Amino acid sequence: MASKTRDNLVYALVWLACFAPIPWLGWNLFNGDLGANPIEALIRQLGVWGLRFILISLAITPAARILRMPRLIRFRRTVGLFAFAYVLLHWTSYIGLDQIFDWGAIGKDILKRPFITIGMTAFVLLIPLAITSTNAAIRKLGPVRWRRLHRLIYVIAPLGVLHYYMLVKADHRPPLIYAAFLAVLLGWRIWDWARKANRKT
Ligand code: HEM
Repeated sequence: MASKTRDNLVYALVWLACFAPIPWLGWNLFNGDLGANPIEALIRQLGVWGLRFILISLAITPAARILRMPRLIRFRRTVGLFAFAYVLLHWTSYIGLDQIFDWGAIGKDILKRPFITIGMTAFVLLIPLAITSTNAAIRKLGPVRWRRLHRLIYVIAPLGVLHYYMLVKADHRPPLIYAAFLAVLLGWRIWDWARKANRKT
């Protein structure tokens, strides 16, 4: 198979894999398989997928380096944009389905429930990353400023995990598993930076 065709096929498969949770959630919603409180279940599922894609996007650079597959890097933007799409849907479902656009109640919730404050902060910080993901924005910002701005993901990901940890009332193991993954991904970067800095001196 010509390499261009293979590249396009792989890209289509990655895109489909990222998109798959949407029809799956829609199907479960349609069939009444989301439990006694489908709105809460939908919000939660969209939040979990948002967090998963944030972590997957953070895993791409170490995976590309460790597996010596630099071409994996081109999927980072797609996965990152899907992470934003899931968080946006998570937020929209909370605003529209849970709070029914009661902006007063939403404002109070953001101020009074710390896990919502943290989630909202993570969401707001994700917006500039999504907006600057086009080729034109990357060119306009320049690679140095673009890279510096996109380091916000190192703040967003821990806020996402913290948001999850804070809202869980009984079993803290699931958010702690996400926290452990995040610690490995951030730990790898710290190790990599330290190694590069050592080489320079
Ligand atoms: C980067 C941003 C965010 C991430 C990664 C995220 C992720 C999550 C996760 C993983 C859950 C728990 C799912 C579960 O229990 O299985 C969750 C629940 C929730 N999130 Fe977020 N979230 C984010 C932003 C927000 C924002 C902006 C809001 C609203 C302003 C919000 C409101 C909620 C609510 C209401 C729940 C359900 C709480 C409950 O069931 O009692 N989240 N989110």
